[in-house]
Amino acid sequence: PVLVIDFGAQYAQLIARRVREAQVYSEVVPHTLSASEILSKRPAAVVLSGGPASVYAEQAPDVAPELLDAGVPVFGICYGFQLLARAFGGTVERTGTREYGRTDLDVTGTGGKLHEDMPGRHPVWMSHGDSVTAAPEGATVTARTDGSPVAAFEDVERRIAGVQYHPEVAHSPHGQEVLRRFLHEIAGLRPSWTTASIVEEQVAAIAERVGEGRAICGLSGGVDSAVAAALVHRAIGDRLTCVFVDHGLLRAGERAQVEHDFVAATGVRLVTIDAREEFLGALAGVTDPEAKRKIIGGEFIRVFEKAERDLAAQGDYRYLVQGTLYPDVVESGGGAGTANIKSHHNVGGLPEDLDFELVEPLRLLFKDEVRRVGLELGLPETIVYRQPFPGPGLAIRVVGEVTGDRLDTLRAADAIAREELSLAGLDRDIWQCPVVLLADVRSVGVQGDGRTYGHPVVLRPVSSEDAMTADWTRLPYEVLERISTRVTNEVTGVTRVALDVTSKPPGTIEWE
Ligand code: XMP
Repeated sequence: PVLVIDFGAQYAQLIARRVREAQVYSEVVPHTLSASEILSKRPAAVVLSGGPASVYAEQAPDVAPELLDAGVPVFGICYGFQLLARAFGGTVERTGTREYGRTDLDVTGTGGKLHEDMPGRHPVWMSHGDSVTAAPEGATVTARTDGSPVAAFEDVERRIAGVQYHPEVAHSPHGQEVLRRFLHEIAGLRPSWTTASIVEEQVAAIAERVGEGRAICGLSGGVDSAVAAALVHRAIGDRLTCVFVDHGLLRAGERAQVEHDFVAATGVRLVTIDAREEFLGALAGVTDPEAKRKIIGGEFIRVFEKAERDLAAQGDYRYLVQGTLYPDVVESGGGAGTANIKSHHNVGGLPEDLDFELVEPLRLLFKDEVRRVGLELGLPETIVYRQPFPGPGLAIRVVGEVTGDRLDTLRAADAIAREELSLAGLDRDIWQCPVVLLADVRSVGVQGDGRTYGHPVVLRPVSSEDAMTADWTRLPYEVLERISTRVTNEVTGVTRVALDVTSKPPGTIEWE
């Protein structure tokens, strides 16, 4: 792999994704790994990421000389660029000129591979205090800015290069090409990481791992579990059984998507468990959001375990398929935990003492790769591009007690909102758009000739990269108007449509 050494950049995972976009497999490793640990992974190249430190700071993380002496191609970005420059005898100084944000890069007449034939001046994204003032001997300086006399250098012979700016972000429009040139032309790597190769390798690995064994996979209706199941199905066919728990908290049409569309596309053996009554019963009288989550999580485990016992009677189901993605693997492998703001991410998860061996075919993949694999496997776009939907489902979008009627009301309003957003072509612009029923709030309306007294629903459209932060999406007024008119006309009991204009932070995406 190409190893991205993470010096504390917020961008390390993004760099790995960009490397993979150049069709070269890449992983993120922490800078605390020793040179021998890194070399034991047999890196095809190393990328030194940016980071918050100054190379002058005491205990500034550094790169081990043994790693640089090993002859592995190295690319440095921002802080990593400065480390690289210094390690090979260049100079890094605190010049007093900082550059933050959009900066003009000048590559006129510099030659070299990285920036050859690019517009003489083009924008890049900078974020640095220190600057490289002299490149290592033998290296060619291939770009400069007003504040950085050496904004990029390369040494094709030694296969080292780097840039002061952030080529991985979208604000550096030529950045991807610069990375690609380093990987393909300077490091000499072959573009072999393609969707087809991912599918082929994963299917082979699963077949080898599971052998003649049997596997269970819980489907949620979301993309991760669907793609994981489809991959495993390719590998072991009917020795995979998928289990889908209908807890009654899904949106309109989602059960059919799994039962019909997914099954039609894959031929997977599916067991649906209708547990709607149990879940509603367990939620009766409950209004506290965390209590709802715990109850749903508990019920889910109970139902799944029963399904598992039923299957165990039919054969030796030793493997459990899970849709764990690469960002979760990286994040749980290092770094301090984040505060538990909501008890989310284990809801819908399974207890740890289950007697299974885990099969996680998406462990190496980023979300966009998972979607491409899904398309490659022929899954319907409705599943592949489904927006994130929380495990506890509509239960945490009914503010107040969850009842069957309230769920029906919310489902109807939600279906209208989703339909109108899709018709307006906004699905890919929006991260997700919860529709929330304020079940304990009543509001007067006038509908037809009479006074009505119903409930408000709130639209919560958000734009986000990763759900950690989010901004409210500026939806066109015409679209809002259509949703509002249709919801109040078509959904009995809803008298008002409100729009949530809070970013995250301070508001979370969901209301509960
Ligand atoms: P918040 O509301 O914390 O949501 O801003 C961030 C993302 O997580 C989803 N979410 C959940 N997902 N179980 C889940 O599986 C949960 O309990 C849960 N609560 C929130 C939310 O939809 C958003 O994508």
